[in-house]
Amino acid sequence: MDAKLQKFIEGMPKIELHLHIEGTMEPEMLMQLAQRNGIELPYKDIEELKAAYKRGSAYENLQEFLDLYYQGMNVLCTEEDFYDLTKAYLKQVASENVTHTEIFFDPQGHTMDRGKDKDGNPYPTVSFETAINGITRALDEAKTEGLEVQVDGRTEKRKVTSKLIMSFLRHMSEEDGFKVLEQAKPHMDKIDGFGLDSSEWGREPALFERLYETLRKDYPEKKLLAHAGEEGPAAYVEQALDVLKIDRIDHGNHVLDDEQLTSRVASQGQGMTVCPLSNLKLSHKVKGARFGHDEEVVMTDLGQHRIKDMLAKNLKASVHSDDPAFFDGYMNANYIQLARAQDLKQEDIVQLAQNAIDTSFLSPAEKAEKTTELADYVTRFNAAQRFVNPEAGQVRKFG
Ligand code: ADE
Ligand code: ZN
Repeated sequence: MDAKLQKFIEGMPKIELHLHIEGTMEPEMLMQLAQRNGIELPYKDIEELKAAYKRGSAYENLQEFLDLYYQGMNVLCTEEDFYDLTKAYLKQVASENVTHTEIFFDPQGHTMDRGKDKDGNPYPTVSFETAINGITRALDEAKTEGLEVQVDGRTEKRKVTSKLIMSFLRHMSEEDGFKVLEQAKPHMDKIDGFGLDSSEWGREPALFERLYETLRKDYPEKKLLAHAGEEGPAAYVEQALDVLKIDRIDHGNHVLDDEQLTSRVASQGQGMTVCPLSNLKLSHKVKGARFGHDEEVVMTDLGQHRIKDMLAKNLKASVHSDDPAFFDGYMNANYIQLARAQDLKQEDIVQLAQNAIDTSFLSPAEKAEKTTELADYVTRFNAAQRFVNPEAGQVRKFG
């Protein structure tokens, strides 16, 4: 990929819409928190832990990753742990010019029975309050005070705004969902929306119909989301739209397997938060049409991703990192590696970034502001490139 486009991506103001805060647990932080909290880990050292994270290779499937992801949560015990985790993520993305992020957290992963270590000692569970207070303290600081980041050897303060989405674990029952909703009630002022994540196969969205009906009735101002069509079929996405009545689709890769659904999602302008490095590392299955056959094939490189089909079909797809510590890359890495593998042009990158603005949960005025900021960046970047381009007369004049 041309170095200019990489620079363009790195400097571009970006919005992240699909991020699990627990998925930002880097192996080093996991080790540190385990030590701080006296938690026994089933790894003898950091190298063994990194091997479990499959750095540079792939998980067998979503479930293999999820088992590791839930195990990682066991080291999150105090409000400080949640604060440190969230702050580290915010600092990273602030340094990548992310200006707004809409993040998930999985309260059931913290409040439910977390199982036992190898000596039979139960891992400590934490209260809903501990988790949400730690996360929101870091989010609020990033909004108001800003974060110190290193830019070209200088320290700069950057603000990052955010929304917080509480997710229900779909491998658990709808009843369990209602229980955690009860725990969330005193904290509704901190929650902007509700999501549905975890294992998808065999756990169709309709299993959560009553829960989503309650959410719509009791919290009409809050947004609804669901992971759908990540590894599950297009029919699951249709159910998430029709039965759960979601505002935005998380992943949605398999929308493309159904032409009618593709037209519907495109004409409704429904957002689809696509996570390229996640898809690659979870060995995401790509249905055949693009490859001239109907069988499912495992994606082995990002050149096989269907992002161009999504854009060509006017789907409001955008790019995000999902669980960056587990999938080897934050926002810039997702954009850059996708652009490189797909030979994306500047206008494709801008379209993806604009789609994220359009389908975010920001207000219309905030969206307009972000749109102007993005357009100004493109103008300034291209003007500066002309300036340094030896083909352009001005260079000599000012050089
Ligand atoms: N929880 C965290 N990451 C997830 C993913 N990619 N799919 C489903 N649930 C998740
Ligand atoms: Zn996700």
